Amino acid sequence: MPKGFYYPLKVTSLGGVIGSPKEITQIGGRMSTYPLRVAEKYTETEDAVSITFDIPQDLKGAFSYLPGQYLTIETDNGEETIARQYSLSSTPGVHNVLRITVKKVEGGIVSTWLVDRTSKGDVLETQVPRGRFFKEIDQPSHVVLLAAGSGIAPILSIVRWLLENEEDHKVTLVYGNRTPESVILATEVEELEGRYPDRCFVEHIMSRANSDWLGATGRIDRSYIQKRFPDWDDRSNDLPTIFYMCGPEGFMDAAESTFQEFGIPLKHIHRESFDMILEDDGEEPGLEVNGTESVDEVGETTKIVVVVGGEEYEASWKKGEDILSALLRAEADVPFSCQEGTCSSCISKLTVGQIEARPGVLQTLRQEDLDEGLTLACLSKPKTKNIRIDFDEI
Ligand SMILES: Cc1cc2nc3c(=O)[nH]c(=O)nc-3n(C[C@H](O)[C@H](O)[C@H](O)COP(=O)(O)OP(=O)(O)OC[C@H]3O[C@@H](n4cnc5c(N)ncnc54)[C@H](O)[C@@H]3O)c2cc1C
Ligand code: FES
Repeated sequence: MPKGFYYPLKVTSLGGVIGSPKEITQIGGRMSTYPLRVAEKYTETEDAVSITFDIPQDLKGAFSYLPGQYLTIETDNGEETIARQYSLSSTPGVHNVLRITVKKVEGGIVSTWLVDRTSKGDVLETQVPRGRFFKEIDQPSHVVLLAAGSGIAPILSIVRWLLENEEDHKVTLVYGNRTPESVILATEVEELEGRYPDRCFVEHIMSRANSDWLGATGRIDRSYIQKRFPDWDDRSNDLPTIFYMCGPEGFMDAAESTFQEFGIPLKHIHRESFDMILEDDGEEPGLEVNGTESVDEVGETTKIVVVVGGEEYEASWKKGEDILSALLRAEADVPFSCQEGTCSSCISKLTVGQIEARPGVLQTLRQEDLDEGLTLACLSKPKTKNIRIDFDEI
């Protein structure tokens, strides 16, 4: 990493909460964006780059972030606005610029544009950081993080944050790639391991390395986890073990079920999905979500009250539409991006009434989140005449 990437002094607190985007321009009716200038662009591997952004002083509040959060970057193909999410691979309080790390997807519109065609000085339309991957850890713990490919971006942000800020935590990073040449951010991973030899243990696993590779081979799958789990358990030295993972859904499903077989409670397993495909065609029965205040009957004139950025808006719901569509019709300034349940931007909390969420909501949230009234507005419909949704209380 170049000079100037790190803050000269270590700062030991989280970045704080994101600011209100109210003063900035609404682009084409979508969520508000800020124009951010590309400060530098670095080649990571053959098909991956890191891009850093300088944040002007007056936007520092809006762009403060938590480890593991992502930026939504928008572009325009002449006909429509296309938005994609990219996790911040930088760490709040450690780096003085924001950085994303992008891997080109075969035939992918935005990743190809970012990797091949953006340059230093370009201005990208960018939404403020969002996401709730990282959860505050309230006691000394052994944190095991599994990353596959570009999944290293949010994982590295969290690893660095834990090592720099929480000296009671131990960290084990398991990082899966095809070959040693395809390992993104390899130097930074190595540096962290070298700087914290007693607290940070890294294992690389390669699925297609040649015979020069002497480390672990294969994928991070069920049999690998079954084999390695006892060692991770030993390393924990009686500290509770918490898991974070990011990569393809299949790998995370297998990992999650294997951890559960080893008795790890779901609340200690956190995952972030990059997949843009919602495995839900809308035909399955919905999931009931209840607010803390109770309910009346469903009807044609459902009224939705929404709280966002400390302001209250009112929207009326048309039968069949999702809650997000009703809110956007009412010009409520709510966060959203994909409108199909994959980016998690529209996470909100139902405080009054009852709603029905499409089962695909469980690709991003857990049942225990739904039990607390959390939902995705783009995958939810009201079930009662009056509902109240809060975007600030999450
Ligand atoms: C919360 C979140 C954080 C993310 N963070 C990062 C990150 O840090 N770095 C990064 O490189 N990407 C990240 N992604 C993925 C990124 O948002 C895009 O989905 C990805 O770059 C593909 O977009 P595209 O426009 O290039 O492809 P598209 O034009 O949308 O798709 C082209 C083709 O690729 C397939 N495809 C789409 N997405 C993927 C995918 N993720 N993997 C494999 N095939 C795919 C599509 O089905 C299609 O066939 C993140 C996604 C989410 C939801
Ligand atoms: S807008 Fe992306 S999950 Fe709802």
